[in-house]
Amino acid sequence: MEERHRTVAESQAERSEVIFPGDSNSLGNLFGGRLMQFIDLVGAVAAYRHARSTAVVTASMDHLDFVAPVHIGDLLILKASVNRAFKSSMEVGVKAMVEDPKTRLLRHVSTAYVTYVAVDQTGTPVMVDPVIPETEHQKRRYEDALRRRESRAEETQRKRELRKILTSDWHV
Ligand SMILES: CC(C)(COP(=O)(O)OP(=O)(O)OC[C@H]1O[C@@H](n2cnc3c(N)ncnc32)[C@H](O)[C@@H]1OP(=O)(O)O)[C@@H](O)C(=O)NCCC(=O)NCCS
Repeated sequence: MEERHRTVAESQAERSEVIFPGDSNSLGNLFGGRLMQFIDLVGAVAAYRHARSTAVVTASMDHLDFVAPVHIGDLLILKASVNRAFKSSMEVGVKAMVEDPKTRLLRHVSTAYVTYVAVDQTGTPVMVDPVIPETEHQKRRYEDALRRRESRAEETQRKRELRKILTSDWHV
């Protein structure tokens, strides 16, 4: 297939959620695992739009910071952008904010970097097109994504080696 450079704007995704009591922890705040699910879902949409492949799978989620709690009744807005595409993988940055419906002011609650891999019907990784960063922020994120990929690759390699020597058991 012919390679085409794609802008970040072409694949950006947004998701809005009103937080209900069923999603809360014992303090009445949004449960962290549920926020991770929202992050993964909106990030996958951006990756899917960029890749235009059969499917994308989540390979890893890192640098997930919960910087402030989300309360029941809050309006949570999540935005996802493909920071950079490599061969078959894409780093997607997701930022989550709470919007005050009266003032429209935003409060930053979480940021995450998620790596998705484009795959075919057999689950085999397939190539994706490169990203063209256009704005200053997109250019900064594009450069930072390469640095993160390098440190992630080192960690992924170390974990692969450990999996080879460790048996499928609890190692306490
Ligand atoms: C992600 C997956 C397709 C990678 O397969 P693999 O055999 O390791 O493939 P490769 O070694 O050829 O790597 C393919 C790409 O994935 C990237 N990758 C693999 N493991 C990664 C990890 N832990 N974190 C980030 N990127 C990773 C590689 O860097 C490579 O990127 P590139 O093509 O842009 O250079 C495979 O591990 C998988 O299917 N995992 C399960 C995914 C899933 O089910 N997710 C939902 C969770 S329930």
